[in-house]
Amino acid sequence: MAKAKTTFVCASCGSVYKRWQGKCDDCGEWNSIEQEQAAVSGAPKGLSAKRGNTINLTGLDEPAEDAPRLTTGIAEFDRALGGGLVRSSAILIGGDPGIGKSTILLQAMGNLAKAGHDCLYISGEESTAQIQMRAERLGLTGVPLKLGTGTSVRDILTTMDEGTPPKVVVIDSIQTMFADHVESAPGTVSQVRVCSNELITFAKRRGTIVLIVGHVTKDGQIAGPRVLEHMVDTVLYFEGDRGHQFRILRAVKNRFGGTDEIGVFEMTGEGLNEVPNPSALFLSDRNSREPGSAVLAGMEGSRPVLVEIQALVARSGAANPRRAVVGWDSGRLAMVLAVLDARSGLGLAGCDVYLNVAGGLKVNEPAADLAVAAALISSIAQVPVPDETIIFGEISLSGDVRAVGQGDSRLKEAEKLGFTGAMIPKGQKLASKAAISMQTMERVSDLVDFFLPGGVEARS
Ligand code: TYD
Ligand code: MG
Repeated sequence: MAKAKTTFVCASCGSVYKRWQGKCDDCGEWNSIEQEQAAVSGAPKGLSAKRGNTINLTGLDEPAEDAPRLTTGIAEFDRALGGGLVRSSAILIGGDPGIGKSTILLQAMGNLAKAGHDCLYISGEESTAQIQMRAERLGLTGVPLKLGTGTSVRDILTTMDEGTPPKVVVIDSIQTMFADHVESAPGTVSQVRVCSNELITFAKRRGTIVLIVGHVTKDGQIAGPRVLEHMVDTVLYFEGDRGHQFRILRAVKNRFGGTDEIGVFEMTGEGLNEVPNPSALFLSDRNSREPGSAVLAGMEGSRPVLVEIQALVARSGAANPRRAVVGWDSGRLAMVLAVLDARSGLGLAGCDVYLNVAGGLKVNEPAADLAVAAALISSIAQVPVPDETIIFGEISLSGDVRAVGQGDSRLKEAEKLGFTGAMIPKGQKLASKAAISMQTMERVSDLVDFFLPGGVEARS
C-alpha cells in the first residue's frame, strides 16, 4: 500500500525539502517553509503499456488558430498586458491586499461585458451584494457581467463547463480557493498549486482566459503567488504606495509581449482612472525653486516618464550617518555618494542623506544616477537646479558620466511637458536636434562645478 508522505515546501519559491528548516536555501526567505502532504506516494512506476492519444502536430508557419487579443478598453491595462488578453491564457495579478486588484479587474470585466463578451467574475472574498455595490460605484450598472461567489474549484469548473465556456473568468483570489481532493487548508502551497493547475488546464482546454488574483503577504502564512509564476503565461504586479493615489501595473513575465511595460492608474472615489500621461501627474505639485529637487527624464519600458528626485543632505554628528532611500536602490545611492566623495571632495561621508522619488514610483535604471547626484549636490550647495531642466545620465565608478539609451525619447517627452533645459552626458548621441538647450557633462566634477562654481571650498 502506498504510504502517505510528508514534504516541506517553501511558500515563497516552491522549493521542496525533506525536513523543516527555518530559512529557504533557494530564495533566502525566513519562516516560509510549511508542511505538505504529498497526494500520491510510492515509487513512480512509469507509464504502463496503455496507449495514449496522439497529439496533433503543426508546422511553424502553418496558420494556427489565430490568437487575437481581446482588448479591455482600459488602455493602460492592455498596455501592461502587451496589447490585450490572449485567448486560452492564464494571467496572474499579484499585489498587496487593498492595492486595487479587485477594482481593476471588475472594471476590466465590466468593459468586456459591455462590449458583448461573456465574462464571469468569481469571488471567494466578497459577497455578491458587496461586489454589486462596488460595481455601482464604478458606474457599471446594467452591464451583463456574471457574478459568482464560491471557493470550491470543483464547483467553479463545473459551472464554467456548462454549455459554452465563458470567454474570460476572474478568480478572486487564489488564496481562498480549494480543491476538495487535497487535504490542506486554502491558501497553502499545495492548494494554491493544485487549484491554479486545474484552472489553467481548463483555460488551455476550452479557450477561456483566466485571470487569477494572488495576494502577496510579508509573513509566510499564506502561499505567495510566486509559486504560481512558473505556471501562468503572464504575471502582472500591482504596485503602489497606499499613501499615494498612483498605482502601477507592471508586467514581470509575459509569454505574449514585453515585460517592461507599465500601466499607470490613479485611485479615485470612482475606481481606478487611467493616467495616459504619467509625467504630468508625477510632476504636478513640484516646487522647482527648492534646492535638492531634480527632474529625471526616465524610461519605463518604451515610455518616457519624468519624475522628481528629492534629496536632503544634512551634517550629522553620528558615527554612522543615516541613509534613507524611498523609490531607488540604496546600494546605488551608496555608490553615487562614494563617487561624489572620491572624485569631487564634497565630504558627504559625514552627512545624513535622505532620498525620495516623488509620487511613489520606483526607479531602477542607471540613467537616474546623474539626476540623483544633481539633487544631492543641489541640496548640499543650497542652490536649486535651474528652472525647467531635466537630467539623465549614468555615473561610472571612475566619475565619468556615461550615455544612456533612448536619449531622444527622453528629450522629446521633456519638450512636450514644457521643459526648456537638459543636463545630459557629453557622449550622448542624439538622432534629432531637440529644441531644448543642452548642458553636457563629461564627469561628475562638471556637475559639482555647475552648482559650486567657486569650488567646493567656497561652500560656507
Ligand atoms: P481592492 O480592489 O478591494 O483591493 P484588492 O482587491 O487588491 O485587495 O481595493 C481596495 C481599496 O481601494 C480600498 O482601500 C478602497 C479603494 N477604493 C477606492 O478608493 N475607490 C473605489 O472606487 C474603490 C472601488 C476602491
Ligand atoms: Mg480584492
